[in-house]
Amino acid sequence: MLAYRHAFHAGNHADVLKHLVLVQVLRYMVGKDKPFRYIDTHAGAGGYQLKGAVAQKKTEYREGIGRLWSRADLPPLVADYVQLVQRFNLPPAEDGRLPALEKGMTPPLALYPGSPSLASLLLTPFDKLHLYELHPADARTLAAHFGGEKRSRVMQEDGFAALKKELPPTPRRAVVLIDPSYETVGDYSRVVASLREAVQRFAEGVYMVWYPQVSRVEAVQLPKRLTGVAPKGWLHVRLTVAQPDQQGFGLAGSGVFILNPPYTLHQQLAELMPWLTEQLAQYDGASYLIEELPG
Ligand SMILES: C[S@@+](CC[C@H](N)C(=O)[O-])C[C@H]1O[C@@H](n2cnc3c(N)ncnc32)[C@H](O)[C@@H]1O
Repeated sequence: MLAYRHAFHAGNHADVLKHLVLVQVLRYMVGKDKPFRYIDTHAGAGGYQLKGAVAQKKTEYREGIGRLWSRADLPPLVADYVQLVQRFNLPPAEDGRLPALEKGMTPPLALYPGSPSLASLLLTPFDKLHLYELHPADARTLAAHFGGEKRSRVMQEDGFAALKKELPPTPRRAVVLIDPSYETVGDYSRVVASLREAVQRFAEGVYMVWYPQVSRVEAVQLPKRLTGVAPKGWLHVRLTVAQPDQQGFGLAGSGVFILNPPYTLHQQLAELMPWLTEQLAQYDGASYLIEELPG
């Protein structure tokens, strides 16, 4: 079953959290003088029209990136991420590349980049992007974005299964984003099983797992199960912005579990999360959690 379309949710509070963390992880990786492989097991379409009929159905982006868009008082890490999204909203130059932002310029918010596009803006020509997406339409869009790039490969395959053949990478440096739709309950167990197998093959990789904060036992148990895969060397951040609805449904927030995080990440999140929680709160009980067990 592939009914999930990320276009309905692009730029919402969960994307903001996930992509803020991703940008900081990738910035750290490119700061070292050694190429690496970025593996996105559930890549999505790569970019989304926010003014199109799909995104306009729920307008979730308004309570996410929309709340940060034109602000002049963003903390530096948030400004870094928002400026990347703003660049994605500029018309490409003649060579197809996205131009740099002019100082003080804020384009209208019309597009939201998916994780592959944020990675593409940050990675060097020597790094590689390996992008997996199973949905035929999203895989086609992704291939149209990245198909012509020498450093990128787009594969319409099961991203969980693909991790086996990806690891260990050559050279031995990689960031893996595991960002399923959790459309079927089996995704929770597949995340745990694939992370376990990935770590057996390549223990030193940087792994990021996103998960939704929803009222189902598998989601609640997931962070604990992930700490079982890697008893040490992990960081877990969660942002709760809303209350579940009266039936107990709805996305209250989301979390990111990072295995082998950059040593700088905990401090960055400790500075960022109180501010972010306040900005993205949809009710008085909004909160965040950061926990870590260093390696
Ligand atoms: C949450 S979205 C990804 C969003 C993207 N990582 C981002 O941050 O922009 C999850 C995607 O996984 C795709 N998908 C679902 N099952 C998959 C599988 N087994 N392998 C690869 N992609 C899958 C869905 O079609 C959907 O586009």
